[in-house]
Order: sequence, then C-alpha cells, then structure tokens
Amino acid sequence: MSSILVLGGAGYIGSHTVYELIAAGKNVVVVDNLETGFRKAVHQDAKFYQGDIRDKAFIDSVFEKEEIDGVIHFAANSQVGESMVNPLKYYNNNLCGTEVLLESMVAHGVNKIVFSSTAATYGEPERIPILETDRTVPTNCYGETKLSMEKMFKWTANAHDLRFVSLRYFNACGAHPNGKIGEAHNPETHLIPLILQVPNGKREYISIFGNDYDTKDGTCVRDYIHVNDLAQAHILAMEYLRKGNESNIFNLGNGVGFTVKEVVETARKVTGHPIPAKEEPRRAGDPSTLIASSEKAKKILGWKPKFDELETIITTAWEWHRNHPNGYEA
Ligand code: UFG
Repeated sequence: MSSILVLGGAGYIGSHTVYELIAAGKNVVVVDNLETGFRKAVHQDAKFYQGDIRDKAFIDSVFEKEEIDGVIHFAANSQVGESMVNPLKYYNNNLCGTEVLLESMVAHGVNKIVFSSTAATYGEPERIPILETDRTVPTNCYGETKLSMEKMFKWTANAHDLRFVSLRYFNACGAHPNGKIGEAHNPETHLIPLILQVPNGKREYISIFGNDYDTKDGTCVRDYIHVNDLAQAHILAMEYLRKGNESNIFNLGNGVGFTVKEVVETARKVTGHPIPAKEEPRRAGDPSTLIASSEKAKKILGWKPKFDELETIITTAWEWHRNHPNGYEA
C-alpha cells in the first residue's frame, strides 16, 4: 500500500496530523530535520527519516525508497517575530526548501500536495470574516514566504502534472485528547501555552499585549482552531486531491473570535488558577481582529470542526501542559 509523506511530521500540527492519518488507516512516512520538531512526537507506526528538504539527494532518496501517493508539507519555519529579524532564514528554509521538494516531486511523478499555510498571508484584513478571495498583503516576512510558497505551487501546477491544496490556518491551539502529543515550541510565543505556564508555575503572570484595540474589551480578537480539527482538514484535502479535484485554497478557523482577555478568563475557569495578567503595550505587527470564514472548506471538503468550544480546546491544552510541563523533554 502506498504512503502519505508528511514533511515536518515531528512538529506541532504535523505530529497531530500523523496521528489522525494513522487512526484513519493510512501508511505514513515522516521526514523532519528535528530543528524545531521532536522525535518523540512522531507516532510509533510512522516510518521516520531525519533529514532536510533542502537536501536534494536526501529527498530524492525518500521518493525512491518509498511508494509515495501524496505529500503533506509542514516543513517550514513559522515564527512571525523571528522572520522579521532573520528574513533570509525564512527565504532559505521555506522557499528554497519548497523549490527543492517540488523539483523532486515532479521528477518522481508525485502529483498531490497539501500545504500548511496561514492567515498571515492576508496581513491586515479588509473585512471580517476573511474570505479566501480577499486581498493578500502580508505584514511580516513569515506570511510573505508562505504566500510565495502558495504561488510556487500555483505556477508548478500550471506547468506540470501536479495539484495542490493550501490550508490557511487561523490560530492553531489545543492538544490531542489522547494526551500523548501537544504544543511544544522553544521559545514559546503563542498565547494559550504561555497562559498555561502560569498555573504550571513556570511564569508569574501573562502579559496582555495592547488594551486599546478597537474591539469589545480593547484586546486583540483571534479565531482559535483545535489542532485535531486542522489535522482532519489535511486528510480531507488529500482525499479531495485523490478524487481528481482541482487545486484550491481554504481557510481553516471556527469563524468565532475571542479577545485575549476572554482567552485568559477561560483558562482561569479551566485550570482553577487565578492567572494574574498585566496589560502591556501592543506587540508590533499584531492585527486587531482575525476571524476566518471557513464556509468554503465546510462546503467543498466536508470539513466539520469538532472542537468548537474555547473551553474544550483549552481543556485539551491544559491536560497536555500540566502532564508535560517541559514539553517532550524529560
Ligand atoms: N498575546 C498576548 N500575550 C502573549 C502572547 C500573545 O497578549 O504573551 C496576544 C497577541 O498579541 C495576539 C494574541 O495573543 O493578539 C494571539 O497571539 P499568538 O502569538 O498566539 O498568535 P498570533 O495571532 O500572533 O499568530 C498566529 C500564528 C501565526 C500566524 C498568525 C496570523 O501563530 O503563525 O496567527 O495568522 F502568522
């Protein structure tokens, strides 16, 4: 039986997708350079190769050894702040890596790819909720490289036998309800894991970046989407391509926005900890409100997010963080 190749399958969203693919009965091959991913996050039934997608000989050898039916591509750097300080790292890994990958896919006749994209491709939105057809003007280098990767797929698909689905995630969060895998970044910059460091005794308070946005309580609004729901969307997107459908782009979010203060309040309820918060100046580059319209993914892919309550999402995250206060490290 052929396999799905998951690039970056040791990372946060990649590892959850691998678990869901295996639960769905698929054969999975994982490639990860372990720069930000964790070997322990890779499901034991997946075949694992440590290596870098920029290494043409390496990626060619994987396509030669394995019978790969389609690729799911998470192998990119994804920190907004870092991308502004070190843009060339992002161009090198995200763009050069994808170029090498596509050359190898075309050469080996692998013609389906599902791509991990981001709401950061939109930049400051022109309207809420955001539709896939809205303008894309990224405000950071990370979003710019993801948009360029989408365009690389488009032109490659135009010239070769290749089709792609790009999935633009909003705020990925939560952990697998099985308790085995969860969110682990070093350094951590995301709101929910940082909040949960407080009840875990690793941080005294949570900083709230900006209280003067034009929102109901002055703090930024985001669309939080559970990582297992994102994982399901990748499986549906691969099925969509397997059925011969055309290349496409889909937003993935719950379509509901929560303010930073509401997220902190929900975490207090879930953990039973007072979680002190300090209001601080705005963080550079944060849009006020990001909410997805995911109607297209629901209609065309048949995607149905299951974890649509913020409290449930934070409960799964808290289960992971309180049992793994140091992430995958002992
Ligand atoms: N925030 C705080 N305090 C913190 C951390 C975050 O107040 O300590 C706020 C941020 O200012 C923002 C919200 O919480 O308003 C969410 O911040 P995250 O860093 O968790 O997520 P972002 O919305 O900045 O980023 C996410 C993804 C990016 C993606 C971006 C746009 O992590 O990869 O959405 O789609 F680029």
